[in-house]
Amino acid sequence: MPRQQAEDYVDIDVLCARFRQHTARIGVIGLGYVGLPLLRTAAERGFSVLGVDIDRGKVDVLNAGGSYIGHIGADTIAGLRAARRFEATDDFSRLREVDAIILCVPTPLTRQREPDLTFVERTTESIAPHLRRGQLVVLESTTYPGTTREVMQPILERSTLRSGRDFFLAYSPEREDPGNPQFATSSIPKVVGGDGPDALRLACALYHELVAKTVPVSSIETAEAVKLTENIFRSVNIALVNELKIVFEAMGIDVWEVIEAAKTKPFGYMPFYPGPGLGGHCIPIDPFYLTWKAREYDIATRFIELAGEINTAMPRRVVDKTIAALSERAGRALNGAQVLIVGVAYKRNVDDPRESPALKIMEFFEQRGAKASFHDPHLAQIPQTREHPTLNGRRSLPLTEANLAASDVAVICTDHDAIDYALLVEKCPLIIDTRNVCARRGLGNERVIKA
Ligand SMILES: NC(=O)c1ccc[n+]([C@@H]2O[C@H](COP(=O)([O-])OP(=O)(O)OC[C@H]3O[C@@H](n4cnc5c(N)ncnc54)[C@H](O)[C@@H]3O)[C@@H](O)[C@H]2O)c1
Repeated sequence: MPRQQAEDYVDIDVLCARFRQHTARIGVIGLGYVGLPLLRTAAERGFSVLGVDIDRGKVDVLNAGGSYIGHIGADTIAGLRAARRFEATDDFSRLREVDAIILCVPTPLTRQREPDLTFVERTTESIAPHLRRGQLVVLESTTYPGTTREVMQPILERSTLRSGRDFFLAYSPEREDPGNPQFATSSIPKVVGGDGPDALRLACALYHELVAKTVPVSSIETAEAVKLTENIFRSVNIALVNELKIVFEAMGIDVWEVIEAAKTKPFGYMPFYPGPGLGGHCIPIDPFYLTWKAREYDIATRFIELAGEINTAMPRRVVDKTIAALSERAGRALNGAQVLIVGVAYKRNVDDPRESPALKIMEFFEQRGAKASFHDPHLAQIPQTREHPTLNGRRSLPLTEANLAASDVAVICTDHDAIDYALLVEKCPLIIDTRNVCARRGLGNERVIKA
């Protein structure tokens, strides 16, 4: 091989061996709900990990052996720091030290409900000046098919480096399910798509060391589509049971009982549950990434839009049910009533309130003249959000007899395990239960209204 060519040549076998032997150094960018568990997994598997985040506060907490995510204990982080398994930084130039760069940054929607890729773009721009030959770059953030190739690749190729020759580009969607004790990052199979066979091989070699199973697919775009398919499936099925809830309620049929019976069918049925609306960083947002991209092909995503419409209407319905219950059961108006929201995180046993329908419900109550407070054992304070500025900084009330007795109605939005439902049902005059948790615990009575 001529000298120049030999210098340019990246030996894929050597890189794969470094992943196999855990001697490679892994960079994780974006140390949030997805990035921090990934950093932890890689560090626990024996890799040396460099965590990168623009949030200096997070970097300092991690380097001091602390944690800011409820289900990842500070003792875990402290142990990994003491064993020198990872370091956190906000200095992107240190990415030159790593063999693989994995991006776990947010992919929200704009106010107009269009994909907001500024986090992905900015992160890629921060990587580009430090990218070096032989590095694997993987996007894990949820996004529409085409993002990795159309948005990231041109930014990374502003230098003389080329994907598939000098560096290797892949997409592998995160399937984190925070708060689910049955699955950790390492036990969830991972879909992997690469820009060419070398990128795919490298990415599979890396993830093979991190998770129980890798599922290679034929292209980056296929891997991007897999993630959206999974989340659209959830959104559409949740919308379906939310619609069934309304229909069955009008017929005097309890949708929860229907689902319990239906799920005894051993094939062809999978239970989804109604609720106060969609929450979290994924299900309310991701489907619209496909809707936006489909417009480029003149295709309307009617199922996705309809599901979005039905799910978006749920918080208002909870408020309407509360207004009716207050009037019928307590003979009073919502205006001036004291409403206690029970559970503000978007789902059971997590501390994440992003996109939570509970926040919308609280705002709707206050817009109608009620005084709304909340109790959440996992969330001491509502963090700053762009969408709900009036709720910023509100603090969780303790679930005391006095606070319950002082409430006209409690609205259960999230069925955390760490809530004393027996006390709630005993002391609160009226309960609106959007999760059927009281009935599930044998606490249903005439003061508990399902919504
Ligand atoms: N949370 C989940 O359960 C979940 C599950 C599957 C997929 N996802 C997807 O994973 C992605 C990340 O979600 P998340 O919940 O971890 O978000 P997050 O907000 O918890 O964390 C993102 C982190 O990225 C950091 N960040 C933002 N811009 C940066 C930049 N330019 N450079 C470096 N760091 C930057 C933020 O400071 C933050 O710490 C999203 O695309 C999301 O859709 C999330």
